Amino acid sequence: MSNTSQNLPASITLVGAGKMGSAMLSGWLTMGLPGSAITILEPAPHDDLSATCQKHGIALNPPTNAWKAAEVLILAIKPQMLDAAAPSLAPLVSANTLIISILAGKRIADLAARLSGTSAIVRAMPNTPAAIGRGITGVAASTSVSPRQRAMTDALLGAVGAVEWLDSESLIDAVTAVSGSGPAYIFYLTEALAKAGEAAGLPADLAGRLARATVEGSGELMRLSPDLQPAKLRENVTSPGGTTAAALAVLMADDGLSPLMKDAVAAALRRAGELSG
Ligand SMILES: NC(=O)c1ccc[n+]([C@@H]2O[C@H](COP(=O)([O-])OP(=O)(O)OC[C@H]3O[C@@H](n4cnc5c(N)ncnc54)[C@H](OP(=O)(O)O)[C@@H]3O)[C@@H](O)[C@H]2O)c1
Repeated sequence: MSNTSQNLPASITLVGAGKMGSAMLSGWLTMGLPGSAITILEPAPHDDLSATCQKHGIALNPPTNAWKAAEVLILAIKPQMLDAAAPSLAPLVSANTLIISILAGKRIADLAARLSGTSAIVRAMPNTPAAIGRGITGVAASTSVSPRQRAMTDALLGAVGAVEWLDSESLIDAVTAVSGSGPAYIFYLTEALAKAGEAAGLPADLAGRLARATVEGSGELMRLSPDLQPAKLRENVTSPGGTTAAALAVLMADDGLSPLMKDAVAAALRRAGELSG
């Protein structure tokens, strides 16, 4: 994560401070971006956002005649709002502005066509653990994004988790299918494990607690074991001929979890392609 102060922009405008926008804002303030460098446009600011802006001296919804082009413009509105919002955002963009978009399905070319003032555009796909600073974001850049703009992107998106640069924008849909949608797969896995516990005779609430704590603890164990591959961690808890091995024989069968996960990711990939544009 590169978040040294020289990589922070002198000015940043955040358009849309909903779930994702607010999570990023909180990360920036935690890493020391001064509130005076931030402007937020958000038509329906919730009370917490207004209080945060007041506390940190952040300009919230300044009058249109005070809008200036920022060094970084971050788009965090719903993708379907882009067409309606783009014309009014023109004063916020100059040739020196970097646009960072987290809008699912909106290609760099779509953004360039709607916000024509700059050609420096980064398209990013974060995921919901960003809300607790533990997200992972796949990032693709237009060719005119400068090294400084890349460093600013690393700092700003790195404030809510890991950042992975992609060689090609075409990989964004696959990132969406793996890590963007991935948290829901893990939550569903937790539900399925709890249901299986119930079927094995456990009271529902106990099965739920066991499943949840198992997923939480295993995730944390994996995080704290960066040198061990998941396969090694799995082998470490699997005695030959034991109970775990019996379950894994089912999960790892030719028609087990792996082909199912491949189908699920392929379905998400197809849907991401359909929604792009
Ligand atoms: N949540 C995720 O896991 C996730 C993951 C990857 C990417 N994303 C992307 O992140 C973006 C934001 O998602 P979210 O979950 O944070 O959505 P959200 O909570 O609905 O936030 C969007 C915010 O933008 C505001 N807004 C709408 N039009 C605006 C305008 N013209 N100017 C300024 N603000 C405007 C909305 O206000 P109103 O509520 O008043 O409309 C809302 O507060 C989406 O494009 C999504 O594709 C989200």
